[in-house]
Amino acid sequence: MTKNGLLTGRQFYLLVFCMLCSFLRLNAQDQTIHWTKLSSGVWSARIGKPERVNFTSISGVKPKTDVINKLPEVGFPIEESAVKAVIFDGKTYLQFPLDKGEQIFGLGLNFQTVGQRGRILRLHMDHFGGQDNGRNHAPVPFYVSSKGYGVFINSARYLDVWVGTAVAKESKVPMDSRDRNTDKAWTSQPYSDNVSVLIPAEGVEITVFGGPTTLDAVSRFNLYHGGGCLPPKWGLGFWHRTPTLYTDSLVLNEVTQFKKHQFPLSVIGLEPGWQSKSYPCTYEWDPGRFPDPAKFVKQLKEQGVQVNLWMNPYISPESQLIKKLKPFTASHTVWSGFVPDYGLPQVNQIIGDHLKRFQLDIGISGFKMDENDGFDSWLWPDVTLFPSKIPAEQMRQFYGVMMQKMTSALYRDQNKRTYGLVRASNAGASSFPFVIYNDYYSHRDFITALINSSFIGVLWTPEVRSSATSEEWLRRMQTVCFSPLAMLNAWSDGTKPWSFPDVEKQVADAANLRMQLIPYIYTCFAEYAFYGRPPMRAMNLLDGFTPVTDKVEGKLSSTENPYAQATLKEMKDQFMVGDNILVAPIFTGETERKVVLPKGKWFDFYTGKTAGEGEVITVSPGLDKIPVFVRDGGIIPMFQPDKISLIPGVKNNLIIRFYGSKETSYHLYDDDGETFDYEKGAFSWREISIKKGKNGKMQGTISSVEKSKPDNFGTVKFQFMTE
Ligand code: GAL
Repeated sequence: MTKNGLLTGRQFYLLVFCMLCSFLRLNAQDQTIHWTKLSSGVWSARIGKPERVNFTSISGVKPKTDVINKLPEVGFPIEESAVKAVIFDGKTYLQFPLDKGEQIFGLGLNFQTVGQRGRILRLHMDHFGGQDNGRNHAPVPFYVSSKGYGVFINSARYLDVWVGTAVAKESKVPMDSRDRNTDKAWTSQPYSDNVSVLIPAEGVEITVFGGPTTLDAVSRFNLYHGGGCLPPKWGLGFWHRTPTLYTDSLVLNEVTQFKKHQFPLSVIGLEPGWQSKSYPCTYEWDPGRFPDPAKFVKQLKEQGVQVNLWMNPYISPESQLIKKLKPFTASHTVWSGFVPDYGLPQVNQIIGDHLKRFQLDIGISGFKMDENDGFDSWLWPDVTLFPSKIPAEQMRQFYGVMMQKMTSALYRDQNKRTYGLVRASNAGASSFPFVIYNDYYSHRDFITALINSSFIGVLWTPEVRSSATSEEWLRRMQTVCFSPLAMLNAWSDGTKPWSFPDVEKQVADAANLRMQLIPYIYTCFAEYAFYGRPPMRAMNLLDGFTPVTDKVEGKLSSTENPYAQATLKEMKDQFMVGDNILVAPIFTGETERKVVLPKGKWFDFYTGKTAGEGEVITVSPGLDKIPVFVRDGGIIPMFQPDKISLIPGVKNNLIIRFYGSKETSYHLYDDDGETFDYEKGAFSWREISIKKGKNGKMQGTISSVEKSKPDNFGTVKFQFMTE
């Protein structure tokens, strides 16, 4: 200031600059969006100042650009001028266009709804609480449209999303105000032409993925995050988790029981009791229950059984890890355990070294990483400070991804594949070999979650724990055997697959069928890893599958349904396994169900008989079987039923089933089933062809394995299911 109280020139300009800054902060700033083409059909734009960390930076995975570039070239899939971005009040406001009849899928691991249009969500990591509101185990900020494109908001904040509910004054669609007193067509939700997103940050990176199909858009999204994971072959066998306080001898006895009952078993999961203390965890073997862990793991391995270990993130003050780890933990604790800050390299190093030394090096095959999702009172609060300076809100959104990254890297360093479980995941994790599970136990909703997992680059298992009746037990077992991870989690109930003797045989049939299907399922996973196509997937990902029926849900009534709304038909109880198999689970109490068969002819999996063609059929298969259908021309490579072994190097014989009458071909994937050598070319895709022979009968051929490529199949037989 000058002597007479006036501002100097510099001070004046500084004041004007500050006033301008605060004016800009309080005034909505329309952002010009510049799209940059990253690869074929993938465009990205940076709005304002995107934050330092986001899903892509945390997962650190590189896009599979070469594969993306081989997908069909497509133009920018949405009307560019209809995408709007505004920065105001420290937040970013986004708007994307929606067309009439367009359906939106994704936006998290929803359990009760598939189509998200008409819904309002807050994407927030949490244990699912019984209502689809955005709080779940994988609140992935990505949606795909039935019009064949996807949108990814790369922000690890709690995002609010209005999916076709916000009605802008300046919409191109004319306002349609109706009189509720007299007009029956009045609706509580007037037509909305957009998806609106509120991001509590002054900027964000957004990425748009083209199709042309919805499945292509999902594949591009997965490939952008490094493609899907490829589990080791043993990961696709049958898993069993033993009760928490089981000792080594009880577990070994359980394995013997599996043999006696002739029930397949590939992985045993140990629950918290393998540790000396848990909740918080020591990450140390309990010397009483497991006096010689190395010997125990070896004994199981000799019987072809892998061991998976439960853990949660919170480290006990009594763990030997704490001395080194404590400076790198958060300001708050959970269950009086320290919360490691995985944003710091030291944490990854200290915990990684420990797990390597005491677990990987004795042959532990992987981990189940629990409790990294929520509930609110089971997690650190958002006022927690992490030494890496990553805000607690962001930490919550991607903590599970960080744990997946850390453990995946340990196995990769040893050139061994792992397959495990996690209760929290998010964008960027599709290449990490983990399957989500939870404590909510609705069979029906578990299937909807399986369907929804396919839109957002995560895997889900509808694990079986216990059941009130043998019927429920069997129905649950039948479905889990068609999921990414076939598991009985008996941590609390101590159930065995044969716990319901009246359905023991049928349960064994389901598990044995799972084992037989491994060549087909493994190939589905190879397509996930190489091409980003999800192994188990929603019917809505089938090209041209649009059973859209606009109908009003219920009748308008003053008490029960005062805000009657139009909804779309949901495909939430049947799904595809790869391109050829359609699974339609039956739930307890049902003796029949409706199955929507897509275009083309479909055949019964078990008999090969014609089931229908682009129609809705009703099936009543009895208790023994879960309804499964195969498309016309469907080739299903299976192991011969007896003596299936997932031990690397052991050859299994093949039976290649063929359904229908369409001449067709299929590529069967194979590799060593346990290392990453496939990334360096040590794999094979064998062509199976079915053609009509001169005698008019269908004949099958399989190409031979190229020299020096993996060859794990023994004899090959063809089985023509449809005569
Ligand atoms: C739960 C988890 C269960 C089981 C249990 C052990 O949080 O979902 O699967 O592992 O912890 O205490």
